[in-house]
Amino acid sequence: MTRSDVALGMPSFPRAADEFAGADPQRGLMDTFGRKATDLRISLIDKCNLRCTYCMPADGLPWLSKDQLLSAEEIRRLVRIGVDRLGVRELRLTGGEPLVRADLAEIVRSIREDHPDLPIAMTTNAIGLDRRVDELVDAGLSRINVSLDSVHRETFAKLTRRDSLDQVLRGISAAAEAGLTPLKINAVLMRAVNDHEAPQLLAWALENGFELRFIEHMPLDGDQQWNREETVTAAETRALLSQQFVLSPHQQERDGAPAERFDVYARRDDQVPDEHLGTVGIIASVTEPFCADCRRTRITAEGRVMSCLFSREEFDLSAALRQPGSTDELVAQHWAEAMWVKPAAHGTDRPGFDLDSFHRPDRSMSAIGG
Ligand code: GTP
Ligand code: 5AD
Ligand code: SF4
Repeated sequence: MTRSDVALGMPSFPRAADEFAGADPQRGLMDTFGRKATDLRISLIDKCNLRCTYCMPADGLPWLSKDQLLSAEEIRRLVRIGVDRLGVRELRLTGGEPLVRADLAEIVRSIREDHPDLPIAMTTNAIGLDRRVDELVDAGLSRINVSLDSVHRETFAKLTRRDSLDQVLRGISAAAEAGLTPLKINAVLMRAVNDHEAPQLLAWALENGFELRFIEHMPLDGDQQWNREETVTAAETRALLSQQFVLSPHQQERDGAPAERFDVYARRDDQVPDEHLGTVGIIASVTEPFCADCRRTRITAEGRVMSCLFSREEFDLSAALRQPGSTDELVAQHWAEAMWVKPAAHGTDRPGFDLDSFHRPDRSMSAIGG
């Protein structure tokens, strides 16, 4: 099935109406397994100015047209419905690359006007951020997570197919100066490309006061080349980092977060107590999945609910938003129904997780949003 085959306005797999009977917006975005989604991620645009090999094909993808994208006003309305009616408590703006959207600051500002206390984070590649960060902070952005897999120019260019490391580093510095903290860095390790640089990347992040998180490569690449054997696992990542650092499980409650955190100490051979350098996170969605505690709901750039990153079933909210006489109540009902049938784990309905049955969605990460 290709992207364009995914049905508009209805789930791509027909379901009987009674499968949604338990959905009740009064209880928020609850699913049949008792999980409740409070963390909303909205993709603002599918386009990106990088071509990370683990995310997008070299030639890009067929982009959505401007009128297919949710408008700034529709995004504002969805967040209002999520927060006021459905129990959403935090928001992440994703892409593609959110900075590619010219009205990004306007979107942030309008959401901030409605929700003075809502944490609004953004996942970005930071290209061009140095020029826009002040405007974004002024609009009410709370913090950012930057995708950066290498601080070596050649490795960066190989992974992203663009020679843009300097622009990314400028964006990161500007964001830190503007107070977008804690600033988190997302890195994906690819075997024989940047895995050997893992300790160096961590040293760089610690020196700069950034919180680095290593994400296991997931089957969400645009080229559909992913295979389990090539995935640099969390266990391997811990071993790589241990060449240079001592890692110790962080005491703070994980509380449904994707990252397992570790305190990082300098590795010393003498008797001097190890120096605490900071923390690092490892997001092991392939080998140590965290689906049982998931509290995320995702909306794609064209307005479809994906209840799971690996959903092969999408529910269109744009029709409910755009139809004449559309009410917030109706949109909330559709959204609650879409979340009610959230799969148990990784797009499958099996309780628990079977490592051999990873269902990949028809979209790549760039078309879903992290
Ligand atoms: P903060 O710690 O608040 O910044 O949020 P976070 O840890 O949720 O960060 P972020 O959304 O950036 O998640 C980091 C990465 O983890 C994402 O880019 C995804 O690659 C991965 N991830 C996040 N949520 C899920 C999920 O529900 N399932 C899977 N499999 N991976 C996820
Ligand atoms: N596997 C793991 N992480 C991915 N990302 C993009 N594609 C993949 C993938 N196939 C990460 C990027 C970005 C975040 C949105 O998702 O590093 O930081
Ligand atoms: Fe762009 Fe992010 Fe995908 Fe890289 S991971 S191609 S930065 S959307």
